[in-house]
Amino acid sequence: MTLFCGQSVPDVETRIMVMTREQAVEAIRAQAIRDAGRDARDFLNTEPRRLEQCVLDAAGLIFDFSKHDISSEGFAALLALADAAGLDAAIAALGRGDIVNLTEGRAAQHMALRGGGKDEARKTQARAELERALAFSDEIRSGAFVSSSNEAFTHILHIGIGGSDLGPRLVHDALSSPNAPVDVRFLSSVDPDAFERATSGLDPATTLVFIVSKSFSTPETSLNTQSAISWLEAGLEGGIGRHLVAATSRPEAARALGVSDERIFEMWDWVGGRYSLWSCVSLSVMAAIGRREFERLLGGARRMDEHFLQARASVNAPVISALVGWWHRTISGRQAWAVVPYATHLRLFPNWLKQLSMESLGKAVTADGSPLNAPAGPVIFGGEGPDGQHAFFQLLHQGHEAIPIDIIAFARGGETHHRQALLANAVAQAEALLTGRSEAGALAELAAKGIDGKQAHDIAAHMVMPGGRGSTFILGRVMDAESLGALLAFYEHQTFVLSVLFGINAFDQFGVELGKKLATKLEDEWTAGEDGHHDASTTALLRQIRQYQS
Ligand code: F6P
Repeated sequence: MTLFCGQSVPDVETRIMVMTREQAVEAIRAQAIRDAGRDARDFLNTEPRRLEQCVLDAAGLIFDFSKHDISSEGFAALLALADAAGLDAAIAALGRGDIVNLTEGRAAQHMALRGGGKDEARKTQARAELERALAFSDEIRSGAFVSSSNEAFTHILHIGIGGSDLGPRLVHDALSSPNAPVDVRFLSSVDPDAFERATSGLDPATTLVFIVSKSFSTPETSLNTQSAISWLEAGLEGGIGRHLVAATSRPEAARALGVSDERIFEMWDWVGGRYSLWSCVSLSVMAAIGRREFERLLGGARRMDEHFLQARASVNAPVISALVGWWHRTISGRQAWAVVPYATHLRLFPNWLKQLSMESLGKAVTADGSPLNAPAGPVIFGGEGPDGQHAFFQLLHQGHEAIPIDIIAFARGGETHHRQALLANAVAQAEALLTGRSEAGALAELAAKGIDGKQAHDIAAHMVMPGGRGSTFILGRVMDAESLGALLAFYEHQTFVLSVLFGINAFDQFGVELGKKLATKLEDEWTAGEDGHHDASTTALLRQIRQYQS
């Protein structure tokens, strides 16, 4: 019989068969009340099997959930919620390629992009397009595909934004080496300085412009593309045709821009932009890191897919991570979640996760459009571990509200002394968040420095750290393409499970549309020299801009 945190899973399953989602949430709240005042320091002492049951192994990564302030009974009650929310059926539907994005009537088959999941038709379709992209990237790398002046390409200007930028940018930063045959510059913002920087020092004669836009209508990408085309035209003797490549679900729009068919790579509406890094969207990455590394990235993700689709909820890392996240958000009311990689190669990881999580879970209504009666996704923030310790960790340790944190670290790689120092810091932060520092402990530390009496008491109050603050420790053997693939797929699945627990659609993003529409209207007004109708604050701001520009 399988146990999770002291609870027999069959018992849990029998009990929740008759539970509604509301009843399951009530049971969790009741358990939280029973556990009030206790935290993982206590549970680690009183639950003999806690480590065995709260530390999971998935796709070569270790996930340690033991430091969260959730008792074994709390975990069992959370698993009952997963059941009441129909999680097993939801995961199966995702894996089969059913329509899970109800508002847009689409499947969400990012697993098929890496050969995972059970949607054989889409896997075949995705593999064929991936093969085209890999073959083309091989030609760029080897110099077989040459520029209009018969030279090998030395640079790729990758133009895209959001999901068409953050994933490839992260993977490139994590896996490329200075010896790569092509260097990739990423251009997302319409800030004129961004274009300036991205093209600085580049020679149009040896630069390939890669336009990535699923919709091929994103204003930022369209403007940057126009500017890049002008830049190519100004710098090239011959035509610019060989310098343009596109990844899109609207090939006709790319064709209209002059991209030739053999250099248009297809995306599909059954993959969300923020879930698309596994596809031709990453062609520039493939050209930089090569086919073998890219395949290893996909392989790591596929291993995580298998784990996610096959493991029981009680030992399923993305599921347990989401249940822990749901607990902190809904039961404890935590508004934020920190993600902190102790890996320079993952310094862009928090940016990628911000879009994945907040664009997927920042919702106000349930999947059927009813108002949510509790908040959904948290604010995600973070940064590289050592730097974060000297920046925002103070708030994590002593801020009034506890903020849960995912700490990501790797046991091996690089120079030993540096590696050990890095790991010591990662582990020490999780330990400090958990154990804290009592007033007595602070006084003892001060006494050891020869400070006592009133002065010691005054200082000790500032040194007290509450402790009991939860962290998930994710430990890999080494930061490589495979572990990166597994890690990113883990967060994709965790995000999906959270959406099921919150009862929302993880795959639409209507909230980002209004701002885009208003920006277009403003630009049109400026072009026409009109004032337009705006609220008083916006009107004053527009007046100020005009004044500065006059
Ligand atoms: O910001 C909204 C959004 O639609 C994201 O979801 C998407 O990743 C990004 O814009 C870019 O979209 P596209 O690939 O269509 O240019």
